[in-house]
Amino acid sequence: MAETTGAVLPKGFRSAELGWPELHRIPRPPYRLPLVGDVIGANVRSPLQDSMRFGRRLGPIFRRKGFGKEIVFVWGAELAAELADETRFAKHVGLGVANLRPVAGDGLFTAYNHEPNWQLAHDVLAPGFSREAMEGYHPMMLAVAERLMDRWDGERAAGRAVDVPGDMTKLTLETIARTGFGHDFGSFERSRPHPFVTAMVGTLTYAQRLNVLPAPLAPVLLREATRRNEAHMAYLNQTVDAVVAARRHSSGEGDLLDRMLETAHPDTGERLTPENIRRQVITFLIAGHETTSGALSFALHYLAQHPDVAARARAEVDRVWGDTPLPAYDQVAKLRYVRRVLDESLRLWPTAPAFAREAREDTVLGGVHPMRTGAWTLVLTALLHRNPEVWGADAEEFDPDRFDPGAVRSRAAHTFKPFGTGARACIGRQFALHEATLVLGLLLRRYELRPEPDYRLRVAERLTLMPEGLRLHLDDRAPAPDPVSLRPVARAGD
Ligand code: HEM
Repeated sequence: MAETTGAVLPKGFRSAELGWPELHRIPRPPYRLPLVGDVIGANVRSPLQDSMRFGRRLGPIFRRKGFGKEIVFVWGAELAAELADETRFAKHVGLGVANLRPVAGDGLFTAYNHEPNWQLAHDVLAPGFSREAMEGYHPMMLAVAERLMDRWDGERAAGRAVDVPGDMTKLTLETIARTGFGHDFGSFERSRPHPFVTAMVGTLTYAQRLNVLPAPLAPVLLREATRRNEAHMAYLNQTVDAVVAARRHSSGEGDLLDRMLETAHPDTGERLTPENIRRQVITFLIAGHETTSGALSFALHYLAQHPDVAARARAEVDRVWGDTPLPAYDQVAKLRYVRRVLDESLRLWPTAPAFAREAREDTVLGGVHPMRTGAWTLVLTALLHRNPEVWGADAEEFDPDRFDPGAVRSRAAHTFKPFGTGARACIGRQFALHEATLVLGLLLRRYELRPEPDYRLRVAERLTLMPEGLRLHLDDRAPAPDPVSLRPVARAGD
């Protein structure tokens, strides 16, 4: 066990008692068992949803301990806003994110703040998400969406329901692979997920299981899983090496991979090393599709459950896009209501449901909880987004009008954080929002979405969130509503 003294805390997992001298002030579940900790009512497959349940009972800051690892969670709006202060706090690479280091190394997502490759890669790659770059990706995004709709047309004609998370994963993987790396995984031609997806899901699930198991026992309990994980990592590396090698023999079109291979830092002239490029490609292929596919899947679930919201969104698409078969780049951001549907889905189920923050210096959180330099906490976005003090007594209900401009202005800052915060917030935010709004617009325009009658939302966790077993029936579109019925609908219930 690491030292408890000294100004800077050790690397690796740091249990809360190391960094929070007044930990006893923070509520915890009542029944703590010796050795194992707060495991009553906990399920290794749903640590996030368990934490949400505990959090509701214990309040805006609480702690949980499992097998000697104690974690402080925060979901109070004021505390979360304090943690967003970049002068006092920074991203903490710990827990699930640190568990991905063996595969993603010092790639953007998993880099420690002090690692020079973070700033270098950030500066080299940020222009890859500029408006100009996004405009270049737009036609490729459209082309992939058309592949999805070809497939869905076939399923509709055959009267079969579609596998939403499976197909959204195909769509978002193809989109990031083509726009970022000029690569075609051929996902839509396959009946099973591409082995890259299987390997990726395997690695994410493994990283999550390491979070919840006792460190000394993990090698024994996970022996078989560890072996599989090594095979998965080897597959991810091989795939990425092949993508990079192919590009070295041909030229790209100024995409992310070109930037990685050819662009020097504008001030220092430094370039990314081949090993770091490998880490970045894996990072972008994973971070660039897994969360967006979940966000699209949740949004489609809510649209199917709320036909009034779907009708209003569809009417907006008709009005803004008219008969244009292929909407232009600028026409996507004009789908304001569709975007609210997406925001509201990301509020209820932020597909990256938490992020970790660490103290830059000794400090006191909320004027009550002292933290030593390097002490950290997990901001539970999924519960911050359902905090009744911010979102009202109906916080659990789906209602896109929460994101109309007046409502947004009236809310405190830092209460909606699906893309994280500060310097280490999501670099792909605009990419994800453009892609998802475009795809929702296209799907709404083409199909009526009908849920399976008995479906109840179940959420699968593998660091990210995904609706489990979600299948939807596609019907031909009903005739367009007359303009009178296009007025805002009453609040959508659950
Ligand atoms: C709805 C979709 C998405 C969500 C909800 C999401 C969420 C997040 C969050 C919460 C973080 C911060 C994590 C932390 O603080 O530890 C993050 C970081 C990141 N995301 Fe996303 N993301 C999405 C889409 C994307 C896309 C499309 C890309 C790439 C094309 C991407 C690439 C990244 C990268 C590289 C980072 C690390 C940034 C850094 O530390 O410099 N993400 N994302």
